[in-house]
Amino acid sequence: MAMIGLPEVFVAFLFFLVFKHFFLHKKSPGQPILKNWPVLGMLPGMLPHIPRIFDWTFEVLEASNLTFFFKGPWLSGTDMLFTADPRNIHHILSLNFGNYPKGPEFKKIFDVLGDGILSVDLELWEDLRKSNHAIFHHPDFLELSVSSNTSKLKEGLVPFLDNAAHEKIVIDLQDVFKRFMFDTSSILMTGYDPMSLSIEMPEVEFGEAAETGEEAIYYRHFKPVILWRLQNWLGIGLERKMRSSLVTVNRMFAKIISTRREELSRGESKQSADALTYYMNVDTTKYRLLKPSNDTFIRDVAFSLVLSGRDTTSSALTWFFWLLSMHPQVLSKIRKEINTKYDPTDLEKLVYLHAALSETMRLYPPLPFNHKSPAKPDVLPSGHKVEANSKIVICIYALGRMRSIWGEDAFDFKPERWISKSGELKHEPSYKFMAFNAGPRACLGKHLALLQMKIVAVEIIQNYDFKVTEGHKIEAVPSIVLRMKHGLNVTVTKKM
Ligand code: HEM
Repeated sequence: MAMIGLPEVFVAFLFFLVFKHFFLHKKSPGQPILKNWPVLGMLPGMLPHIPRIFDWTFEVLEASNLTFFFKGPWLSGTDMLFTADPRNIHHILSLNFGNYPKGPEFKKIFDVLGDGILSVDLELWEDLRKSNHAIFHHPDFLELSVSSNTSKLKEGLVPFLDNAAHEKIVIDLQDVFKRFMFDTSSILMTGYDPMSLSIEMPEVEFGEAAETGEEAIYYRHFKPVILWRLQNWLGIGLERKMRSSLVTVNRMFAKIISTRREELSRGESKQSADALTYYMNVDTTKYRLLKPSNDTFIRDVAFSLVLSGRDTTSSALTWFFWLLSMHPQVLSKIRKEINTKYDPTDLEKLVYLHAALSETMRLYPPLPFNHKSPAKPDVLPSGHKVEANSKIVICIYALGRMRSIWGEDAFDFKPERWISKSGELKHEPSYKFMAFNAGPRACLGKHLALLQMKIVAVEIIQNYDFKVTEGHKIEAVPSIVLRMKHGLNVTVTKKM
């Protein structure tokens, strides 16, 4: 597990001690939430909350009518407008999509993603989006998705859980889900099976590297670019770990790419349905900006795709099983639904399961923030002015908990809110339920992700009882992905 580097802790502690007394502002109606100080801006008031940023952004946004301008230290480039206002979200992500790319500043922070779909804008994004769309809807790709899930279930997850039940050992479900999703995502996106989910639980270098990277990226948001670049160059704190993580990721992809190129040159693997093979042979007359013979470009494309599938789905499943452990009545209802309506060829029939998964992602969206940067100045529906190239952070976590949006019971885990009187799934607009993003950049893997989560959930709920270890602490890691800091430790027993 990656830790915050010593310099970060030191700076945070120093700020905290010196300014705590003066800066931690008691908010009262009409007063700003954070005091804006000369030179340091609002940073001192925010620093103590960085480890609990998700709940803090919720509190600040709820107290400031859903939109809040954070002023960073002078010349640090860390000013940001936080919003969870559905009107702003609809305006930015859908109605005025053209004026709201991710922008050059965020591309710097997410530099490790290179030219992958998650970080690029404009024409390159359009080419990546269209080509991704084509492959995600190709029957061979969908078939590979089904076969990889089925084989990982039978040869990975089930033997693993059976063994844990038999040996009565404590397992970390979060780790299990990450391994499942890493293996399936890697098979689908690169054709390579890392075999990370097995009884032996081999070390997963890629997983640790990805998580370190995600945490380092999170902290970059609060530092001037020049500072984290210097830390990276000097090899200090999290940035040092970021550098070595990048070496690991690049090594893994270099091996996968060179092996596939050799296979292709020998005339093998041509028919593989995975994304890597597709991009190595992609039609550049149709997608002008894609570079099938450039290894760095192929690495960027594949890295973004493996990440999009692995981290998100495993996060959602982890929070889902934890919520079920806290709400046994929901678990019983899902079991009952599986017993009466389960049809492996039509998982859509499991309406209550779907509702419980949506409810999980409303409260615990795997990607809690989304970034945008206006190309031209604009005024948001909330009345806030935004300058060209300024930073906007859409707070998806806060959005899902707002009483003004979801009602007084916003904090309750209630799958029923997703079901209509006639027993059908209720649709919520994506600017209100934003777990899969909204507008032209909405998640391309939503359908696959839901299918995968249902397959795993049914397998476990049907065949096992699970119990979270008593006293196990549940808290989120401050990161760009909503993961549990201490994992989800459980014991499982096989149902008779
Ligand atoms: C519970 C699971 C998932 C959630 C909550 C989720 C959520 C999201 C979100 C919020 C975005 C927008 C990211 C951004 O703009 O910064 C996104 C984009 C994307 N997702 Fe997912 N995702 C999930 C699973 C998947 C899976 C399994 C795949 C692939 C099989 C996938 C593929 C993608 C791709 C390719 C994009 C980029 C779309 C674009 O920028 O045009 N996602 N996803």
